[in-house]
Amino acid sequence: MNNKIYIESYGCQMNMADSEVVCSILQKEGYEVVDDAELSDYVMINTCAIRDNAEQRIRKRVRELRAMQGRHPQLRIGILGCMAERLQSQLMAEEDNVSFVVGPDAYRRLPEILRQVREGARTADTELSTTETYADIEPVRLHSNGISAYISIMRGCQNFCAYCVVPYTRGRERSRDPQTIVGEARTLFERGYREVTLLGQNVNSYRYKDTQGVETSFPALMESVARISPLLRVRFATSHPKDLSDELLQVMARYDNICKYIHLPVQSGSSRMLKRMNRSYTREWYLDRVDAIRRYLPDCSITTDVIAGFCGETEEDHQATLDIFRRVRYDYAYMFKFSMRPNTFAHKHYVDDIDEQEKVRRLEEIIALQGQIALENNKQEIGRTYEVLIEGTSHRSDKQFFGRNSQNKVIVFDREDAQPGTYAMVKVTDCTAATLKGVLVK
Ligand code: 5AD
Ligand code: SF4
Repeated sequence: MNNKIYIESYGCQMNMADSEVVCSILQKEGYEVVDDAELSDYVMINTCAIRDNAEQRIRKRVRELRAMQGRHPQLRIGILGCMAERLQSQLMAEEDNVSFVVGPDAYRRLPEILRQVREGARTADTELSTTETYADIEPVRLHSNGISAYISIMRGCQNFCAYCVVPYTRGRERSRDPQTIVGEARTLFERGYREVTLLGQNVNSYRYKDTQGVETSFPALMESVARISPLLRVRFATSHPKDLSDELLQVMARYDNICKYIHLPVQSGSSRMLKRMNRSYTREWYLDRVDAIRRYLPDCSITTDVIAGFCGETEEDHQATLDIFRRVRYDYAYMFKFSMRPNTFAHKHYVDDIDEQEKVRRLEEIIALQGQIALENNKQEIGRTYEVLIEGTSHRSDKQFFGRNSQNKVIVFDREDAQPGTYAMVKVTDCTAATLKGVLVK
């Protein structure tokens, strides 16, 4: 039997988590996960469709794999994830070396699909579901350090931000049964994991109603996971500013092991742009939520996503974005140039009217400002002592370990007798814009 599978993941953490579900489904059917594409029978590429350059990269990778297929004629290639969902038959037609195309809600059918492929078929399944959460599937932990893991708590998104393909590629929002989430976190803790990140496109709208009609909200879910053990750190991503509640901030304040870190995508600092983006909040609302975070959680780190050059963005709108960056003083930001995506609201109703050079200029201005702020923020950390969960050996030197503090900042320090997977107190002594350096405090 050709039973070796290899999976490559692109894009967001959700995709990484989905790849672990895929491997679990196939392992149960006797497939073996290998970590070298050359040794596999099926190469699966779990794809991202969020921006055009993400898709171009994947197209390039599919062409590269053609050469590998020349050397290994048994090799079959599959495209999974958001790009599979978005392009479906187009991919089957344009990439003749691809044998299967499977969307994010159809992974349970993979064993059947691989059987068909083995018999010579080319096949696609991109049906979306309103209920699938893979709740009962225990993910196989890929590329794991044995210390931190992702747990997917919901799927899909129905916010329909004007620029975004996700509601089309991942379908309707649905929440996973909280008992299975807490169960998964507990099992991870018992196996030695010390950090879980609860994942969803918009975790604040997590809501599960059981058969008795009892509802669980996101703050309640967080609380249940935090109670597993004070030694288990809990993180979450991503929060939508429109429904970041005080209740969640209060729960975060109550538990030391809920990390003081919130990723709060702003997208733009201009209310006019936010309205065009269909973000359902204003600049004032966003700043009020930031104030609430600072009030309940004075030591909380805030990071963001931003888009430069969205349709109709004026210089004044761009200045409003720079201004909100100066006010909030993010510790980190994922910064993007707007990329028009087919079939989105923007594509149907707006014009992509900011030319490429101008988009680049605005993006570079944001990047430069953010670099300066991150460095200034980090300099403020010098002299402070943090509890760090040690993750492993530093990339720079095997005499050093790296770990993160509750605020998700990476700290590098001389390893001495410390152990990965344990907590240590580290005093910050130096920094760059991206990393803190420190020394163990006994
Ligand atoms: N162009 C550029 N950036 C985008 N994002 C989503 N869609 C687009 C797009 N069409 C960004 C948003 C989102 C992050 C995951 O990707 O900032 O928060
Ligand atoms: Fe896309 Fe908006 Fe949903 Fe995030 S909240 S996945 S940006 S539609």
